[in-house]
Amino acid sequence: MSTAETNLPPRIRVIPPGPRSVALGRRLRAVESPNVTFLSDEFPIFWRKARGSNVWDTDGNRFVDLTAGFAVAGAGHRNPRVVTALRRQLAQLLHGMGDVHPPEIKVRLLERLAAISPFSDTRTILANTGSEAIEAALKTARLHTGKPGVIAFTAGYHGLTYGALAATDRELFRVPFEDQLNPHVVRASYPHPFRPPAGLEAADDIGAASLADVQRLLDGSGGDSIGCVIIEPVQGRGGDVVPPGGFLAALAELCRTRDVVLVFDEIYCGLGRTGYMFAGEHDGVSPDLLCIGKALSGALPIAACLGPAEVMDSWPESTGEAKHTSTFLGNPLACAAALASLDEIDRLGLAARAREEGARFIEQLQVLAEHHACVGEVRGRGLMIGIDLVRDPDTKEPDPELAGRLIRAALRRGWLLLAGGPEGNVISLSPPLTISRALLDSSVRILDELLLEASAGPSSAAD
Ligand SMILES: Cc1ncc(COP(=O)(O)O)c(C=O)c1O
Repeated sequence: MSTAETNLPPRIRVIPPGPRSVALGRRLRAVESPNVTFLSDEFPIFWRKARGSNVWDTDGNRFVDLTAGFAVAGAGHRNPRVVTALRRQLAQLLHGMGDVHPPEIKVRLLERLAAISPFSDTRTILANTGSEAIEAALKTARLHTGKPGVIAFTAGYHGLTYGALAATDRELFRVPFEDQLNPHVVRASYPHPFRPPAGLEAADDIGAASLADVQRLLDGSGGDSIGCVIIEPVQGRGGDVVPPGGFLAALAELCRTRDVVLVFDEIYCGLGRTGYMFAGEHDGVSPDLLCIGKALSGALPIAACLGPAEVMDSWPESTGEAKHTSTFLGNPLACAAALASLDEIDRLGLAARAREEGARFIEQLQVLAEHHACVGEVRGRGLMIGIDLVRDPDTKEPDPELAGRLIRAALRRGWLLLAGGPEGNVISLSPPLTISRALLDSSVRILDELLLEASAGPSSAAD
């Protein structure tokens, strides 16, 4: 299948959500916990099939997915080589005994991860979700240092299982469970150049301020019990925030001098998305532990926590009962998808593609922003891009309502978008890394039109 066939423009047959999606929404409301899927008159569409950059809904509409399904479909939806690998695996083995009698393909995947890892002698713990990979990293840091304390960052997102949730910074997720969360997590300010912490200006050295924050926590009361710093090298759900150059290297150096394990959560930003295999490479820095997920398989639930032997070997050798495992660990289908997906990232040069196309795309969006007062900033790295929408360019007050109107209007025209940032005011773009330049160019034109319409207010044509 040609690139053109996997990068088709939108085709709307019935205004989404169409009647089939609406009917499925009603059925879902009756059977799913109400917290899970957001249902309204205008949301959601129900997916039927996907291919490359396109998704088709149950009403026959064709969309362009500028989210890659939560940044999962890095090598494109239903990548043919991933599908072939899955077919082959389907004919062999669907389930193994991950930590007892493992599927042979688990070994191949672990060897492959060791080959792409930034460490020279890599050991890996496989997981089923990103959150679980974070749990493995937090446990590893605890075992390695003997210290329970963790420094996480403002607006960081590491998942919603209890261990990961303690490191995640979003009231919406935390408040109902606050009294059950690990009390050993403290927070430093993430260096957000566009939205610096109170008391600082954008022109100030935001990176130095954030480092000083980490230092203060390490030196303060309880600092001796801190054994782990966890950070997203580029914040994803926090609003596509890129730290200033040199910050990650300085943070790594600080952690090294204080014997603190540095965890890079690259579940969102890793595997080519920001223009390098790992986002830490922008600063030429490796962490002590590295978590990946999402685009690892591009399809099935699998994630991993990687580390050098000297850190990972803090885990005791199994004597029959693994201290950290799960029923589906190293699931053969997920391993097959991951191996094929990693091959595709490599074969198609997707990191370099993200770097080149992303730079061009960001530049075009930044030009567009000059014509829209409601765009406070366009930022990003590679194909991980945020459009920060504001009510007023001077106060930079976030405008989540505008983001919502824009996303709904885009959906009606066949473009899938997501809101990011703690306030939900950032249009978060993370298309498949295989997306065509033509589609990226069309998306700039559409965003231009939609911003014009949506910023005219709730009763405008965009609404
Ligand atoms: C940076 C980061 N870490 C961890 C997670 C959690 O991954 P999962 O949803 O697979 O548990 C996410 C999910 O969006 C993420 O973006």
